[in-house]
Amino acid sequence: MNPTSPSKKIIVLTGSGGQLSQSIIKLWSSHPISATHTLLPFSKSQLDITDSKSISLNLPNQKVDVLINTAAYTDVNGAESNQEICYNANCLGPTHLSKWAKNQNANLLQVSTDFVFDGNISTPYDVCATPNPINMYGLTKRKGELNVMKELPQNSSILRTSALYSSNGKNFVNTMLELMSTRDQLSVIDDQIISPTSSNSLASVSLSITEKLIEGAAKKIYHWNDGGILSWYDFAIEIQKEGLSLGLLTRRIPIKKVSSSDYKSVAQRPAYSVMDRRETLADFACPEESWQKQLSIVLKGKTENNARSPNDGL
Ligand SMILES: NC(=O)c1ccc[n+]([C@@H]2O[C@H](COP(=O)([O-])OP(=O)(O)OC[C@H]3O[C@@H](n4cnc5c(N)ncnc54)[C@H](OP(=O)(O)O)[C@@H]3O)[C@@H](O)[C@H]2O)c1
Repeated sequence: MNPTSPSKKIIVLTGSGGQLSQSIIKLWSSHPISATHTLLPFSKSQLDITDSKSISLNLPNQKVDVLINTAAYTDVNGAESNQEICYNANCLGPTHLSKWAKNQNANLLQVSTDFVFDGNISTPYDVCATPNPINMYGLTKRKGELNVMKELPQNSSILRTSALYSSNGKNFVNTMLELMSTRDQLSVIDDQIISPTSSNSLASVSLSITEKLIEGAAKKIYHWNDGGILSWYDFAIEIQKEGLSLGLLTRRIPIKKVSSSDYKSVAQRPAYSVMDRRETLADFACPEESWQKQLSIVLKGKTENNARSPNDGL
């Protein structure tokens, strides 16, 4: 990344330690937008989005074109007991950012979630579908969406995604690989239908929407995933298959299907949270790889990281 150039406008990235932010940072220099804009990433310790003073002190006035807010409290079970922290990060933070953006004539891309929906349908959620969150995480994310759209009706977009994973973050893929290496068998839920999303593909779509915001031509809401419709069980099976073929796993273990009623979770989760991404596909040159291919790319990245750090895990 180049230091801030006086001739370039700025894209601010919040929550830069997170999965999506890390993928945006990785993609940045090869993306056309880097010719006209400088990316300024802020980690939580550099910019706490729940603190409006920290926002006005740290963000450069007048020069910001777009804020990409990936910062969030993402622990879905933890949200049920840490309601205030979750509310502050997922609702208050985006509200502060949108107020700042309004004053500065900047745009905001707010990343949101499939968990704004209740899951009581069986076909992919359209961008116009009515949200009805059933857990604290979804509720706070929905309130964040509403406040962003209220403060910045013309200059914001909401990008909803689901089952996000990357090679390094805390996510289902890494949890499965860890459990598949250490356990003799696994039970995985097969009655919650999801659509996995690689942070690489989401990063690409995030920058496409950022460009549209700059042009003043972005839509209110976008949905993005990698096009799969599957259960967590199906996802686990694919992770095992690909993990074995790439040498990330050394033995196959039995994986058993269980229902949500057999596997008590602190937070209630939608039974079906697939979102319809066709509008996003029609609007941009989106990544075209299947969800299986996206998973394979991320897992290959892990094998390369392991090769670079042979002592990791010893
Ligand atoms: N992960 C998923 O499965 C999933 C699914 C659907 C939608 N999403 C949405 O996608 C976006 C990106 O998710 P992700 O998986 O990349 O998240 P992530 O890896 O959990 O990263 C979130 C980042 O935000 C930071 N953060 C938390 N509170 C903050 C605050 N008050 N001020 C500034 N930064 C703060 C976190 O820092 P600390 O780690 O230090 O707290 C972390 O670096 C989020 O909006 C999330 O709601 C995620």
